Amino acid sequence: MLDKVKELITEVESFNATTANEIETFRIKYLGSKGIIKDLFTEFKNVPNEQKKEFGQTINLLKNSAENKVTTLKEVIENAVEEKGVYGDLTRPSEPIELGSRHPISLVKNQIIEVFNRIGFTVSEGPEIEDDWHNFTALNLPEYHPARDMQDTFFIEKNPDTLLRTHTSSVQVRYMEQNEPPIRTISPGRVFRNEDISARAHCIFHQVEGLYIDTDVSFADLKQTLLYFTKEMFGKSKIRLRPSYFPFTEPSAEVDIYWGLETETDYRITKGTGWLEIMGCGMVDPNVLKNCNIDPTKYSGYAFGMGIERIAMLLYQIPDIRMFYENDVRFLEQFKSVI
Ligand code: DAH
Repeated sequence: MLDKVKELITEVESFNATTANEIETFRIKYLGSKGIIKDLFTEFKNVPNEQKKEFGQTINLLKNSAENKVTTLKEVIENAVEEKGVYGDLTRPSEPIELGSRHPISLVKNQIIEVFNRIGFTVSEGPEIEDDWHNFTALNLPEYHPARDMQDTFFIEKNPDTLLRTHTSSVQVRYMEQNEPPIRTISPGRVFRNEDISARAHCIFHQVEGLYIDTDVSFADLKQTLLYFTKEMFGKSKIRLRPSYFPFTEPSAEVDIYWGLETETDYRITKGTGWLEIMGCGMVDPNVLKNCNIDPTKYSGYAFGMGIERIAMLLYQIPDIRMFYENDVRFLEQFKSVI
């Protein structure tokens, strides 16, 4: 009897199959509810007591080896099916193609570029690591000028100063040094300031700088260009220019757009006034033109600068600036439909 079971074990171990049907027949033969192993367990009660232990152990061995055989053969067959054809089942639905999304900062930057391209502005760029001349001195901010404190700077090296640019106005200087008027250019880019990080401010953010130099450029030209921009960008047609101060422009102004109170649900967007500050601007200071080898008696021009994050937050109702830099896909995925 025991020998018969041992024989069965050898039989099971040497069994091989190439199709799922063959495996199933094998499984039913040995492990099925009317199978060989079931019968052996029934016979177990007729085995004399002194042989019970060994007999029981051997049947269990047979059972385990039959079960193992079924699992390994099934795996072999499944892998073989996968390897069989590159195409597999042609009627199977295809793998979904995941679409990526552009970052909201890129979306808004591209939109701004497009609006200004339509009225003849080209795009220019400059380095993020700047020298003192392009970031400060040429922009009418000589050493020890108190207005340097308006922008807390990350210095890389002292003497000569190397720093992370605090604004994209540095690109104005580079562009004027290398190009003759007429000049119409916008310069998007990343800027850095040593500021505490909060929901409204970050030490890394993005700006777009605008520069227009030609003969007879007036403040009215500036205002009209900005009005065109706010209409195209936000669909808002009321702006106001408040007198302000920037060392590189004279006169200088802060631009507010009338946003209205319809979206003012939490008093945070316009603080209940309806007006919203979106950029700084002004007529390029003659000293700056001179520093860049442009004759201020012949040419005049305007400049403006705005923060991209601020505009993106407004357009997409993003409550916290930190969301732009966390790369949380749940946030980024929401921009899939925007191109
Ligand atoms: N550079 C200024 C800043 O970062 C923004 C600015 C204001 C740029 C007025 C300009 C301008 O070109 O004319 O705060």
